[in-house]
Amino acid sequence: MKRIEGRTDRQEYERRIAPRSLLRILWQKQLHILARVTIPLGARLAIYRAMGIRIGHGVFVGLDTYLGCQFPELIEIEDDVTISFRVTVVVHDDARRMSGVIPGQLEGTVAPVRFRRGCYIGAGALILPGITVGEGAVVAAGAVVTRDVPPHQVVAGVPARTIKETDG
Ligand SMILES: CC(C)(COP(=O)(O)OP(=O)(O)OC[C@H]1O[C@@H](n2cnc3c(N)ncnc32)[C@H](O)[C@@H]1OP(=O)(O)O)[C@@H](O)C(=O)NCCC(=O)NCCS
Repeated sequence: MKRIEGRTDRQEYERRIAPRSLLRILWQKQLHILARVTIPLGARLAIYRAMGIRIGHGVFVGLDTYLGCQFPELIEIEDDVTISFRVTVVVHDDARRMSGVIPGQLEGTVAPVRFRRGCYIGAGALILPGITVGEGAVVAAGAVVTRDVPPHQVVAGVPARTIKETDG
């Protein structure tokens, strides 16, 4: 499947860049429900990978974590990343067009989300489309991440702001 680097028109993406059948979408969503409640970590990660999410080595993803079931291939999780339970990762935005914010359905944009090596995402955090969480960064529990997180920064709150640097 072709990769996109940044925010892309959703219809362009679905029709020309990465078309998929209705059956494929239903299968992805079914796998997503299964992954979120599968207790053995290895099996859980295998199901997320089967959806199309790119997951490196030494990764932990907690239970009931929502990883963009509509466009899972837009999520990249590098080695040694921890994503705690009940995190939500969103890769499409039906209110945001390339040219502004307009309410509506199915005419928005998609944008990849990347978790760089060794970053840590606290429980219940929400990661919005297009975000890169930098290497070794920490996202606090419950944060809403609206901007890229620089490497080795600790961010918290709504919207997430830097509160300190990591010690390691
Ligand atoms: C981000 C985190 C690592 C920071 O830990 P810490 O360095 O010990 O932080 P502190 O308790 O010293 O707090 C530093 C400041 O950040 C604030 N803060 C800490 N966590 C916060 C959060 N989740 N949301 C908002 N603010 C937070 C504190 O209130 C404090 O602010 P203050 O200086 O104005 O009082 C930690 O709070 C956290 O969220 N850990 C994730 C836990 C988790 O999700 N576990 C799941 C296990 S699978």
